[in-house]
Amino acid sequence: MIERIEALRAQGQDAVAAASTSEALEELRVRYLGRKAELPQMLRGVAQLPPDERGAVGRAANQARQALEALIDARAGELGAGELETQLREDTVDVTLPGAPVQPVGRMHVLTATQRLLEDIFLGLGFTVLEGPEVESVHYNFDALNHTPTHPARARTDTFYIERPQGPQPGSPEELVLRTHTSPMQIRAMEAHPPPLYVVIPGRVYRPDSDATHTPQFHQVEGLAVDEDITLADLKGTLLAFARATFGETREVRLRPHFFPFTEPSVEVDVSCFHCEGKGFLRDGTRCYLCKGEGWLEVLGAGEVDPNVYAYVPTTDHNAPGYDPEKVRGFAWGLGVERAAMLMYGVPDLRLLYANDLRFLEQFG
Ligand code: DAH
Repeated sequence: MIERIEALRAQGQDAVAAASTSEALEELRVRYLGRKAELPQMLRGVAQLPPDERGAVGRAANQARQALEALIDARAGELGAGELETQLREDTVDVTLPGAPVQPVGRMHVLTATQRLLEDIFLGLGFTVLEGPEVESVHYNFDALNHTPTHPARARTDTFYIERPQGPQPGSPEELVLRTHTSPMQIRAMEAHPPPLYVVIPGRVYRPDSDATHTPQFHQVEGLAVDEDITLADLKGTLLAFARATFGETREVRLRPHFFPFTEPSVEVDVSCFHCEGKGFLRDGTRCYLCKGEGWLEVLGAGEVDPNVYAYVPTTDHNAPGYDPEKVRGFAWGLGVERAAMLMYGVPDLRLLYANDLRFLEQFG
């Protein structure tokens, strides 16, 4: 009997050493150590042996079982580690490989690309880019920008108001709107940073208009410069640099008097037409369709910051000097990204920018 035990042990050892997969090893575990295997059955039968054989057989069988168990465990460790290694190597995915079939790489939407271009131009002039909330309070959207209580833009038909059952009273400064322009960020920027301040604020704005030349949502790039010795000439120089970077090196700008509640004086800024070189007519004598014979294209609103606006900026968020209307002066502008893109790329219809027709979009970028 002892001989049989030793034979089983030797056989098991060879088989374990030869096992090349975890699966094969588990089969051996069952074959040699499972409930119906020979060795465990011998162990269970020890009690039936004559008393003088029990000790030796029991000891030998037990040792053989323990030895095989230890061998199988050790081999399982080795095989497992190797198999994990192989599996990891085989499962490696190079996420940088192109798909199969290769998919076209996307591109920036023409409006995003235009907005980035505008940001880059003003970054190059020393401005910092800021962003702000699209859901804005009446305080920031109108009041702090010096709009009179009866200013028409406040009408509930001209602005998207956000009505909440438990919200502020209609008409209160805390009432919420979808911002109608990026100008409220002028106030927020001044609240957060002391002068001198040079910022541009790109972003979405909303108005309840929808026709061939208006979408209810569009984009603006606001600009604000506040310092101690700023004049309208600085505004003109800044916008001339913008006009030349955007519409061509030979462009000129012209300021026309206008009105905005938060600037004084306020101007509308025209850029000389790049299609007819500012002449208003083309070489064949026909009227320029782009500027409609004017020689100038209206591109944005601007002005010198109205001193009243500084008074709406609390100085609690940063230490003096703050925005003392006696000391600081500034200029601001707001330009439409859609309009700039349409002029730059000759897009004839605003709605093309939002229809998401790939035949249109793939022409850019
Ligand atoms: N917020 C104005 C609008 O949406 C545009 C504008 C005009 C912005 C003059 C300015 C500015 O900063 O100075 O019509």
